[in-house]
Amino acid sequence: MAVAPVTYGASTRPPRGDYSVARDDYTCDQRWERYTPEEHALYARLFERQIRQLPGQACDEFVSALQRLGMELNIPRFDDISRDLRGATGWEIVAVPGLIPEHAFFSLLANRRFPVTVWLRRPDEFDYIVEPDVFHDLFGHVPLLFNPVFADYMQAFGRGGLKAEGLDALEFLARLYWYTVEFGLIATPRGLRVYGAGILSSAGETQYSLTSPKPQRIAFDLERLLRTPYKIDDYQDAYFVIESFEQLFRATAPDFTPIYREVAAMPPLPQQPLPGERSYPPNPAQGTPNNN
Ligand code: PHE
Ligand code: CO
Repeated sequence: MAVAPVTYGASTRPPRGDYSVARDDYTCDQRWERYTPEEHALYARLFERQIRQLPGQACDEFVSALQRLGMELNIPRFDDISRDLRGATGWEIVAVPGLIPEHAFFSLLANRRFPVTVWLRRPDEFDYIVEPDVFHDLFGHVPLLFNPVFADYMQAFGRGGLKAEGLDALEFLARLYWYTVEFGLIATPRGLRVYGAGILSSAGETQYSLTSPKPQRIAFDLERLLRTPYKIDDYQDAYFVIESFEQLFRATAPDFTPIYREVAAMPPLPQQPLPGERSYPPNPAQGTPNNN
């Protein structure tokens, strides 16, 4: 059955994508045969640019999973990826027309199904795109679904979303998604690495997030994070740094009900350091993104 297009954020502009073909749960068919040769080639160009930024910058879990995906030459068939993913962590990916309403999104995650946008950006959007497309969703999000701990975190997030709806706490939960799933950094013995999909699928933010002296890299602290609004139109002034996916999973496992109540009663915090707050120095700048 067809569903009404959703509006997104403050914009009244409908999101891109053909919602008339979506089912009640907002999933649709990928219709792989409809991608043109030009689209496959554009996808391959995006892929090549982004993998060049990964050495010494993306976390190991991301890099190793990406290698087994082998999705660099064409827009892959979602069914092929799902087959692998089911074997690894019990996740699968499902096609969607584009951005979907929060409730549908959380329901899919809670059932270990990750929604992937079917359409690809236009050539003039090579460097920057406002809405997530098939490249962002696949390249950015799918690799870490092969990691068992991160895979469990994503499901917990979906369940947490369904719960937050009843607690009027979606604003806080959105911050958690933003600062971890989309823009998260992780500390390793060899320095900071990126695990956030929004950074890893972006043309310039990988380097900026790790080595620029400008942004803050604040040690992950749940309440601090929940109180910190983010920017949607520019590189961040602050990232949050986890020590491990286990730490992230454990820190977010407790019932958020009292935590939401607490943070809702307190003022928001800036993306600037607070007195005594633990943060990380930037990685030394790399000569080229390629050299370690
Ligand atoms: N523990 C959270 C709650 O009770 C749910 C959650 C888990 C949210 C993991 C995000 C990530 O609401
Ligand atoms: Co995303």
